[in-house]
Amino acid sequence: MKLFVDTGNIKDIEALASLGIIDGVTTNPSLLAKEPGDFRENLKRICAIVRGPVSGEVIATDFDGMMREGQEIAALDPYMVVKLPLTRNGIRACKALSSEGIRVNVTLVFSAAQALLAAKAGATFVSPFVGRLDDIATNGMELIREIVEIYDNYEFTTEVLVASCRHPIHIVEAARLGADICTCPPAVIDQMFNHPLTTSGLERFLKDWEKVQAALTTK
Ligand code: E4P
Repeated sequence: MKLFVDTGNIKDIEALASLGIIDGVTTNPSLLAKEPGDFRENLKRICAIVRGPVSGEVIATDFDGMMREGQEIAALDPYMVVKLPLTRNGIRACKALSSEGIRVNVTLVFSAAQALLAAKAGATFVSPFVGRLDDIATNGMELIREIVEIYDNYEFTTEVLVASCRHPIHIVEAARLGADICTCPPAVIDQMFNHPLTTSGLERFLKDWEKVQAALTTK
């Protein structure tokens, strides 16, 4: 399963990319609005760091505007992916941009029916938001199960990009269900490293080793 980081923060992306575990980046207007500088330049820098798919979202809600912004985003860098919302215009633009060879990530997906539309429109990625479903007392992971089943039934090539991940359990469950990608905030990726037995185990190894070294130097 691929791991994307869900942020527009260059420093966080650099730090995670240096670990060699990041396959791509997703951004959205809320995330990019938090970062200083021109968003286009920021997206280009992100592409140069991760050298994998980087999603940049259109702001337009009309078809012509989506097409224009989508083409502009795609022209920024070969790694750029155009993020479009799951609306009628978004699906129409997804079909048109995909036919031009531009990769599209259909976002704000909250039902299997919507995911089916994204696949039929030729989306490269579909982004179901599990955390936001959990927030309204609906099982986000059940949606992932449905989408993976439907895509497998018909051999759709659209990749299931599990979004709005709030904790490592979301990532583990997505992986068990066979989702293609999880995108998570840097803090959630950090949490994946943590286990108290790893921390205490390493402390004990180092302490035992120090004891032997101390005994050797006093001989
Ligand atoms: C995905 O592409 C979105 O940017 C993101 O995962 C939304 O997450 P949130 O629900 O935590 O804002």
